[in-house]
Amino acid sequence: MGPKLNNDILLKAAADYGTPLYVYDKERIVYQYQQLKQAFQKTNTRFFYACKALTNVNILKVLADEGSGIDCVSLNEVRLAMLAGFTPERIIFTPNSVGMDEYLEATALGVHINIDNLSVLEAFGNTFGNSYPVIVRLNPHIMAGGNLKISTGHIDSKFGISVNQADKVVEIMESTNLIVKGLHLHTGSEIKDLEVFMRGLELLLTLSSRFPDLTVIDLGGGFKVPYKPDEKGTEMEALGNRLSERITSFEQQASRLFEVWFEPGKFLVSQCGYFLVKANVIKESPSRVFVGVNSGFNHLIRPMFYDAYHEIKNLSNPYATLKTYNVVGNICETDTFAWDRDLNEVQPGDVLSFSNAGAYGFEMSSRFNSRCRPAEVLAEGDGLRVIRKRENFDDIIAGVVLP
Ligand code: LLP
Repeated sequence: MGPKLNNDILLKAAADYGTPLYVYDKERIVYQYQQLKQAFQKTNTRFFYACKALTNVNILKVLADEGSGIDCVSLNEVRLAMLAGFTPERIIFTPNSVGMDEYLEATALGVHINIDNLSVLEAFGNTFGNSYPVIVRLNPHIMAGGNLKISTGHIDSKFGISVNQADKVVEIMESTNLIVKGLHLHTGSEIKDLEVFMRGLELLLTLSSRFPDLTVIDLGGGFKVPYKPDEKGTEMEALGNRLSERITSFEQQASRLFEVWFEPGKFLVSQCGYFLVKANVIKESPSRVFVGVNSGFNHLIRPMFYDAYHEIKNLSNPYATLKTYNVVGNICETDTFAWDRDLNEVQPGDVLSFSNAGAYGFEMSSRFNSRCRPAEVLAEGDGLRVIRKRENFDDIIAGVVLP
């Protein structure tokens, strides 16, 4: 299971730095990275952290120091990656719906470019010919992922170039001399079923015969992590074994060698993170008991946006009798973190922690209702270190031109 921040450390973090607060466990990130390396050790693999999950430069640096690569979806993510010490060769730029201007800027920085539509591919080929090899993102027409909002490889999804249009990719490659060094797909987030990864792999292997310069098979991210206490994540060892078997036999038969790339986000940083809030109000209505906390979906949007489940613990009263609550935030519209959740009885002032808050937690936060975003703290060694200051009113009006 790996190291874990215990209640006492989390309570100390809440006492020292206040709430709401994001706390991340460095050891856990390193542990997850090591797990990945171990699971895929039989295959020539590289991992590129999908940093959209959590971009604090201090977190990026943890993974840079481990030897990871990084996957970026915007030029600002690329800039953050460089700030954290990633060299261009360790950075992939995987945007969607952006114009040639962004691709041109990314080429000037020298990062790997992943192109996901035919018109840009053609423009890119006409501009660079064979001087800047690229990766092409395909849409495999596979429906997978925890919910529709995070499913990206189905036929109606905006992502990638349809596998049915592979002919067109080959035509552009031949007419412009463009070198396609990699084929990529990402079917979605929270994929437990190993068959989904294997089907994706098979598809790219089948297409590889049409791409003479292909050396990279990029299978994206999307490994499932457990959110509920009884849930299981993707079985990484089993996936690693199946993958290596299939790749090895294909490589022998085709007399070619491939590198397999992955871009995990959640797997690397979901479980390292805890979001701490304080119970302000206990309200009993005729039908419910509400715990109103000093935060809202502006700080952790996953429950309201995806109906996501995050385990919640009452850190201040861990042995009190269980009671059933709706845990709600302070935002001016329905703002429910958890419905009918059993928690150790909550008193005003108690500190509650949300688990699995590392990935897409702070990163998707906003200042809705003109509330400040929380601070972020990193636990490393024996200590805690602030890695992002709590916002204040000055941040709210920064950039506003006052009347
Ligand atoms: N690669 C690409 C091209 C992606 O679009 C994504 C995620 C990843 C890798 C990493 O996926 P992961 O390993 O984290 O599942 N905000 C949502 C998740 C959106 C994921 C978008 N793309 C959530 O909180 O569930």
